[in-house]
Amino acid sequence: AQTPVKVTVTGAAGQIGYALLFRIASGQLLGADVPVKLSLLEVPQAVKAAEGTAMELDDCAFPLLSGIEITDDPNVAFAGANVALLVGAMPRKAGMERGDLLEANGGIFGPQGKAINDNAADDIRVLVVGNPANTNALIAQQHAPDVPAERFTAMTRLDHNRALSQLAAKLQVPVTEIKKMTIWGNHSATQYPDLFHAEVGGKIAAEQVDEAWLRDTFIPTVAKRGAAIIEARGASSAASAANAAIDHVFDWVNGTEWTSAAIPSDGSYGVPEGIISSFPVASRGGRWEIIQGLEIDAFSRERIDASVRELVEERDAVRALGLI
Ligand code: NAI
Repeated sequence: AQTPVKVTVTGAAGQIGYALLFRIASGQLLGADVPVKLSLLEVPQAVKAAEGTAMELDDCAFPLLSGIEITDDPNVAFAGANVALLVGAMPRKAGMERGDLLEANGGIFGPQGKAINDNAADDIRVLVVGNPANTNALIAQQHAPDVPAERFTAMTRLDHNRALSQLAAKLQVPVTEIKKMTIWGNHSATQYPDLFHAEVGGKIAAEQVDEAWLRDTFIPTVAKRGAAIIEARGASSAASAANAAIDHVFDWVNGTEWTSAAIPSDGSYGVPEGIISSFPVASRGGRWEIIQGLEIDAFSRERIDASVRELVEERDAVRALGLI
């Protein structure tokens, strides 16, 4: 039998964790023939809740689930890990300044990056979901000098899927008709969902919608969807976030011709090298590649630059705080 793949999930007792773990255990993260071993990392006060979730996982009798470990020690959680989903993070509380938020998350993602560096399997792949995701990924990466930098990624797949869904509804087409969607930049309100390369029925999406809708409805609806979900549900997106994490890792491992993911920049499209920014990406041979050669017009340039500027500011802020 195949050796199980060890998947570590942090924040396992949270709401995304609850939506995510069952799908991983059922085989949707890696493929329907890949056995998995789950490691659940939580803070000490949430370990009991994680144990409850583990009881429910047991009760599903998933054929592919070969074991569950629950711990509050990152060195244990990441020991031999092949995939790490970093979901647990410090949320922004009322009155919290950006520096406080970055500092609190630095205290989580720095030590977790080091624990990954010291304990994970050689093929470790890391997806950061916990916000501010791009910068948390950068912090973790900077504490893991022995792990190839490209293995640290952050999630913009939920934004990508939101963009697909909004465009499909506007044009009254199935989401499967839409190709080459791209989210650029930061997973924040400055992100840029790009319809100038997206295609619907083989034709450029931006040419099939009016400019006012694209600028004043589509872009802000996608960028502010997280806030709209909180307003409606009274809680932040959880099942859709878990779904996007599944999509990201599945495509990373199994390959795709085009999606969006935040990966370390190699300087493409004027994004400073090292910044973990969302790009149009393909996955081949288990590696993300930035799709090259796209023409960027002035409208897109301005928006990509604004989001990347925010990422550079976040990087400079965590540097100034000594977190990287
Ligand atoms: P939640 O508050 O329900 O759960 C977070 C869990 O993380 C809690 O159980 C907490 O105990 C745990 N945790 C905190 N610090 C930890 C640490 N050092 N080690 C291990 N576990 C720790 O939050 P929820 O709704 O599950 O969201 C998690 C994160 O995902 C948030 O930061 C949220 O902003 C982010 N998010 C990101 C999205 C994206 O598209 N990138 C979309 C939606 C949410």
